[in-house]
Amino acid sequence: MTDSLTIRDNRTGAEYEVAITDGAIKAADLGKIKTSDDDPGLCTYDPGFTNTASCKSAITYIDGDKGILEYRGYPIEQLAEKSTFLEVAYLVVYGELPTKEQYESWVHEITYHTFVHENVKGLMQGFRYDAHPMGMLMASVGALSTFYPDARNIADADNRHMQIVRMIAKMPTLGAWSFRHAQGKPYVYPDNELSYTENFLAMLFKMSELKFSADPRLVRALDVLLILHADHEQNCSTNAVRSVGSSQVDPYSAVAAGVGALYGPLHGGANEAVLRMLKRIGSVENIPAFIEGVKAGNERLMGFGHRVYKNFDPRAKIIKKACDDVFEVTGVNPLLQVAQELERIALEDEYFVKRKLYPNVDFYSGLIYEALQFPPEMFTVLFAIGRTPGWLAQWQELIMDKEQKIARPKQIYTGDRTLTFVPREERWADA
Ligand code: CMC
Repeated sequence: MTDSLTIRDNRTGAEYEVAITDGAIKAADLGKIKTSDDDPGLCTYDPGFTNTASCKSAITYIDGDKGILEYRGYPIEQLAEKSTFLEVAYLVVYGELPTKEQYESWVHEITYHTFVHENVKGLMQGFRYDAHPMGMLMASVGALSTFYPDARNIADADNRHMQIVRMIAKMPTLGAWSFRHAQGKPYVYPDNELSYTENFLAMLFKMSELKFSADPRLVRALDVLLILHADHEQNCSTNAVRSVGSSQVDPYSAVAAGVGALYGPLHGGANEAVLRMLKRIGSVENIPAFIEGVKAGNERLMGFGHRVYKNFDPRAKIIKKACDDVFEVTGVNPLLQVAQELERIALEDEYFVKRKLYPNVDFYSGLIYEALQFPPEMFTVLFAIGRTPGWLAQWQELIMDKEQKIARPKQIYTGDRTLTFVPREERWADA
């Protein structure tokens, strides 16, 4: 055997040969390495799964050193320039670009499933006036499982398709309504004559006008942003969807877990933090002092650096271009100048160069969202709508993968053992 690893256990002197496949060894093979028959065997300790593959996946490819991101083999740059969010959603979920018939039927199905049961509206109206839209989105997506109990039939491909269509269709409705709720405005029903992204904008911003229409450049920019967020391999929220989905629960419950994971500031919340940081810096002359503070370790330059991308984040380049398109319509966000100067200075500074810190997807996206009139609490909702096809594709891949099992990591127990319980009255007798 050549593609293998020889392990010598210095505790026992025993040698083991472990197969290497696709650059990985099977963790279960380490379980054979024991000091005695009653030893449970060796395992790896990997908080945050930083070097552990949890699945085989054919959806998204990333090469962090080269700045490559591909969905199903297609470069993100080409998809962002030439495709639409719904076409990318089909590609991500079903693995191939749709034929004309498949595309038309997919768009039709999604368009005609944007409405939700009136009781979902009632449920959402029950939230406090200041409820965070991500909390409302998480709860309402989870609640959909009670409206579609058939969704638990996950072994049936047609049934899975139905739930995938429903969820991609209804996320903008739920996201828009959580926004309207916080604004104290009436919820706007979907308009089947509009495109996916324009309909979303209509549900967010329509007031008394009979027909809502948005500048096509803004619609396109938002569509591109959704494309950029469609999938990103085994990130925290996708891992949450897979982990919960591995119990074979319905996909609404699994995706609700993904929304919960995305809600956290270390995951979906960074673009909001960038905007707050830019506002705090305020103007170009304050940048040098801010950079010195970052270099002194007082804080981080938000929107810079990435766990995987160590050259550039390909999504950031595309977003910069989208920024230009949006500002052409809305007028330039005054913070853009601060962002551009901050980027210029950081990219020349030894501190950032040495640590391979470059702008990531969040550096400019907050500026676009703000120009589109979104309050910061809505930024993560936009991320969630974009990520839904990815979550569903990963969920479907999990369900169809014969090697997958219910997620159940090991632990290294560090607590007490063999204590003897003393009843309360005896423990407290002297008190
Ligand atoms: N500003 C200043 N220093 C930084 C930054 C930053 N944004 N990011 C990393 N560093 C430094 C860090 O202090 C460390 O320096 P040293 O070696 O002297 O201790 C070095 O760079 C390596 O950092 P790390 O924390 O070990 O890197 P990581 O891969 O664990 O963290 C990160 C990646 C994205 C969490 C981090 O770069 C960061 O906190 N960035 C700011 C937050 C942000 O923009 N997050 C959005 C990520 S993109 C969204 C997505 O794709 O989901």
